[in-house]
Amino acid sequence: MHARVYPTGYGTLSFLVKRDRSVFSPLKFVAPLLLAPLAMAETGTVAAADDTARANALTQQLGARLKTALETAMQQGGPIAAITVCRDQAQVIAADVSRDSGWTVRRTALRVRNPANTPDAWERQVLASFATAAAQGTDIGTLTAQATDSVTSGSEGRRWRYMKAIPTGQVCTVCHGSNIDPALATAIKTSYPEDQATGFAPGSLRGAFSVSRLLQ
Ligand code: HEC
Repeated sequence: MHARVYPTGYGTLSFLVKRDRSVFSPLKFVAPLLLAPLAMAETGTVAAADDTARANALTQQLGARLKTALETAMQQGGPIAAITVCRDQAQVIAADVSRDSGWTVRRTALRVRNPANTPDAWERQVLASFATAAAQGTDIGTLTAQATDSVTSGSEGRRWRYMKAIPTGQVCTVCHGSNIDPALATAIKTSYPEDQATGFAPGSLRGAFSVSRLLQ
């Protein structure tokens, strides 16, 4: 577990990368204690304890809906047809989950297929720290981070933010691996000419869910 403060182009953000798989993990109790003084020192606001659970539930909701859409498309038309479904559905599903919840829920990665998923400065830092933790042997499925964003942009105000790492499963390598079927690779390039999201090995860090809500 690392607690760090990073200087960024738009102020100082504090965040914490932690493992939170086990319900009984002592980290669950230690983490808020570490985070709270940092967040308070910077912003005077601490997100409610429920936020982490809510954010995690939203990542599961988005993940489950994307998985259903992907599996249905793969079964009905194979991976090439699934590219078109992903292209047309992935952003819509994320927007739906965001609208229904009133929070912002999306996916991002250091190397993206869709440029709309490009990480912002904070997301990039968290993804880099996830990659470091993964390289040191931490189970990717347990990596999360959270912060109170000190950005005040116009009337929008500050956000509480959360990220959860996404590991690369075996099935994901069909479209994100290093040995992609040539016809499929062509279909990917046609829909995503700027694709960077290939070459991922099973078990490696693919990206992350990113969730935020406006602080009142
Ligand atoms: C049928 C091909 C296909 C498979 C299989 C697939 N993906 Fe993707 N993936 C895509 C496409 C297409 C996009 C771009 C979606 C969009 O437009 O937002 C994408 C985007 C993503 C993104 C968002 C970041 C980015 O690169 O734009 C993540 C994260 C991701 N996929 C993870 C996974 C994981 C994890 C799996 C396995 C469980 C998986 N994908 C399986 C085609 C696929």
